[in-house]
Amino acid sequence: MTWNDFKKMAGMAALEYVKEGMIIGVGTGSTVSYFIDGLKYKKNIIRGAVSSSISSTNKLRKIGISIIDSNDVDYVDIYVDGVDEFNKNLMMIKGGGAALTREKVIAGMAKKFIAIADESKKVSILGKSSLPVEVIPMAKSYVIRELKKLGGIPRHRKHVVTDNGNIIVDVYHLKIFNPTLLEDKINSIAGVITVGLFANRPADIVLLATHRGIERFIYDEYKS
Ligand code: A5P
Repeated sequence: MTWNDFKKMAGMAALEYVKEGMIIGVGTGSTVSYFIDGLKYKKNIIRGAVSSSISSTNKLRKIGISIIDSNDVDYVDIYVDGVDEFNKNLMMIKGGGAALTREKVIAGMAKKFIAIADESKKVSILGKSSLPVEVIPMAKSYVIRELKKLGGIPRHRKHVVTDNGNIIVDVYHLKIFNPTLLEDKINSIAGVITVGLFANRPADIVLLATHRGIERFIYDEYKS
């Protein structure tokens, strides 16, 4: 099986959580694309979707799912999204697709956050790849200097403008032993819109596609 097969398996597994009358929060990325593909078979039973990016909105519209403005609802019943990394406490790094801020807003609105992933995304310590940070353009140099003080190697992600008109700085070579503290510290730097650490609001469920089938990690069981 290829990585795409595992992504598809994870995306399809999330469909069983889609029930009649629900408002569905939809994330961004290659894994969630498979979830969107499957959602077309349930489009007549749901109220609609709150989308985390222009690209997901376009995909959802194409299959006839109505888009609900996040300002018009108080919550989404479930939020389904991919991850870049997750740990045993279901804390995550997200933002590989530059949609982290809208993703975090919808995660905050979600009654249940269902993360979908293949095995490459499971880590013991967050920071294996890089940590994305959305930053307003005029603050780039200042934020990079501040991020260096936290121990990582920050790099501006070239040629990427977020849906909100901002830039992305990726921080490499971090070992994140205290994710909630680092999330708070980075979010308090002036000019940062948000960091792609989802520690204060971890996933409720991770559906992990493996050679053995889908493994379910439930937040309460893994809380330490
Ligand atoms: C988008 O900004 C990200 O948070 C994605 O959800 C994350 O990068 C996972 O993407 P893939 O499913 O494409 O690996």
